[in-house]
Amino acid sequence: MSRPSVYLETFGCQMNELDSELVAGQLHALGYRFVDEPEGAQVILYNTCSVREHAEQKVWSRLGELAIRKQDDPALVVGVLGCLAERDGVALVKRMPVVDVLCGPGELDKLPSLLDNAYRTRQSLLSDRATATDADRRSASQVALQGNSSRRSATLAAAQDSLEMLDLSRATSPLDTMDEDHPSAGAVRKRSAYVRITRGCNKFCTYCVVPFTRGAEVHRPPEHIIDECKKLADAGVIEITLLGQTVNHYRFEHGAAVTIGGVVQPQKGRSYAGGHRRDPFAGSSVTTFADLLSRIHEEVASIERLRFVTSYPRDFGDDVLEVIRDHPRVCRYLHVPAQSGSDRVLKLMNRGYTVAEYLEFVDRARGFLHEPEKGRPLSISGDIIVGFPTETEADFEATIGLIERVRYKNCFIFKYSPRPGTTAFDKLDDDVPDAIKRRWNNTALDVQSRISDELSRESIGRTLDVFVEGLSRMEEKKRERPAKACGGGVSLTIGGKVIHSHADEDDEDCGCSAPEAGEPSAATTQLSGRTDGDHIVFFDVPSDRRAEELIGSIVPVRIERVQRLSLFGRLSGQR
Ligand code: SAH
Ligand code: SF4
Ligand code: F3S
Repeated sequence: MSRPSVYLETFGCQMNELDSELVAGQLHALGYRFVDEPEGAQVILYNTCSVREHAEQKVWSRLGELAIRKQDDPALVVGVLGCLAERDGVALVKRMPVVDVLCGPGELDKLPSLLDNAYRTRQSLLSDRATATDADRRSASQVALQGNSSRRSATLAAAQDSLEMLDLSRATSPLDTMDEDHPSAGAVRKRSAYVRITRGCNKFCTYCVVPFTRGAEVHRPPEHIIDECKKLADAGVIEITLLGQTVNHYRFEHGAAVTIGGVVQPQKGRSYAGGHRRDPFAGSSVTTFADLLSRIHEEVASIERLRFVTSYPRDFGDDVLEVIRDHPRVCRYLHVPAQSGSDRVLKLMNRGYTVAEYLEFVDRARGFLHEPEKGRPLSISGDIIVGFPTETEADFEATIGLIERVRYKNCFIFKYSPRPGTTAFDKLDDDVPDAIKRRWNNTALDVQSRISDELSRESIGRTLDVFVEGLSRMEEKKRERPAKACGGGVSLTIGGKVIHSHADEDDEDCGCSAPEAGEPSAATTQLSGRTDGDHIVFFDVPSDRRAEELIGSIVPVRIERVQRLSLFGRLSGQR
């Protein structure tokens, strides 16, 4: 039987983008064919996010459209994967009977069999159309969810076994199999990759669904991580971003490792008091985050840029900062959300640090890593939530004070969104009116915009190394390539499979996304890329050289002008 065609769209964070890539690789290997438009696809999969209500609404509206389509196309198989599937569970299928497959982020290794069953079931229901009822169709849904209780049980290692296999079986393909239709996205994707080091989260910030959707914190064995990095490097990757919800909390105890079927298992997060300047047990029996960074740097030398997100402020020991300082290919970029500048609100959020402790970290990090005179400044970015329950004008002013004091390169500002199942939802009234949340959001964005602009200006006249990601959007428009129908998402091509992805953050929530200014001229090609410090750079290349050949490489660019977070320049002949 030939496999059906699949359209996969991704919402949410980088963790979800990586999950989509792994799922696509797995299905592709089984013979599923991926298409880049939903029309005509026989299977539609949404890999969803639940972090704010707005993220969920996008999926609800897509599902509403599919319910209409399915009336004319009853063979269509619809799958909801990821955090919304886990959070809402079977209630989602009751609300949206159009859904045939429900698969949480901790169960993605089971997706091929769920899909296969769902496809066969739909075919047989169709042949039995006269007698099948809505209830039959609902009960035919294929569901794999972890549920909170089982996930936090002692059998954690075994439960993670097959999920770990999904990461280990990652498909990498050499650069020369690049998809002709999507040259830029394909090349970048293969030159830049995510590698998971930790699953889940144990922090339980009171507003956050992630510990419920992604489960308990589990650290992957360092050997698995390093092997994956080597495999990617062999396939042409030069930039790796390590992923974890509190990525710098990584810690693997070798003596405590469990082996199942000859495979060392990911390890349940052992709690240790954060804020240690140095891990007292670092050494042969423990691989700390600092050890992991330095091992990847030493053992996978062809990786030119090593990044990691998202960091937790209390878990930055001096050992990590020293490793970043002493290893030139580790980027001087830290994404370390503060969430609020008010101690009272931080406490209600259960963030586990005070403003003074956060600022102490920022100063210490700058002390170790901010070396603009050597051409290596430190960029810090953050996240802020405004309108948390009980937040007052004075709390908000304190947050503005923190933004001013830290001087983030960019900062995502989110309006508090109450999430069912979280402590804040259960215990605290969402009592800040939306109009005030909006006002605070705009004020914080204005302040951050000014700071982003001021920091960007410091780059004018400098020559910076830029990892070239692709043609700029303006250049694509110039070449009359129509924007994607999904509106605002980007398309990534992975081994010939197209994955649509939407950034977690909406543009209006970020004080950094400057519109691209300046129509590229016909005599030049405009490319876009990123600096080591994560600044977005647009630069012109004379049209007499093949600009596309630069995509996926790191080139020197002389910065001539800036607009908020975006830097504009031209390819430089010399450093
Ligand atoms: N693990 C990361 C963040 C993951 S969620 C960390 O702790 O830093 C990404 C961001 O979404 C968070 O930093 C927070 O700013 C925001 N966020 C999470 N839950 C939210 C909610 N209920 N309402 C508004 N913003 C939220
Ligand atoms: Fe959510 Fe807090 Fe964990 Fe980040 S650290 S994922 S905000 S619970
Ligand atoms: Fe990521 Fe959204 Fe889940 S931010 S972890 S996809 S809730």
